[in-house]
Amino acid sequence: PQEQTLAVIKPDAMEGHKEEILGEISKGGFTISHLKETVLTREMAEEFYREHREKPFFSQLVDFMCRGPCLMLVLTKENAVEEWRAMMGPTDPEKARETAPQSLRARFAKDVLENTVHGSSDQQHAAEKIHFIFGDISADSDVLNE
Ligand code: CMP
Repeated sequence: PQEQTLAVIKPDAMEGHKEEILGEISKGGFTISHLKETVLTREMAEEFYREHREKPFFSQLVDFMCRGPCLMLVLTKENAVEEWRAMMGPTDPEKARETAPQSLRARFAKDVLENTVHGSSDQQHAAEKIHFIFGDISADSDVLNE
């Protein structure tokens, strides 16, 4: 069955790797069913990452995510959540370079904060974050999947 995930190309990568990452997404067999370039407000970034609000790096994370445009994507594929996470590689690019050298974070990320891309951790988060960013798109995806 087809699955959806929310992918984000973060501000660090928008500054020079956007086209290459979009090329990898397409080569990876994902369908981009929705896409939106946006500069997050602080309120939106805080809400988007609310699961992390107690973390010591939360305010840095919010600053970083608001620094410039992000590209928000809904990716559709069989097993999309896991496949996109594999394509991103581990959160920390140092670890990614050791264990997943072909991954996007291994190739493009600067450090554990400015790590190039985001992807939902499971299907429930995917549904929540897609709704948060794109609103109610369930009707459109039905049309696309017919
Ligand atoms: P992401 O997968 O989008 O989810 C949470 C984000 O917080 C993560 O990518 C990084 O951008 C950031 N992050 C995670 N761990 C750390 C850390 N130890 N220090 C700074 N930023 C972090």
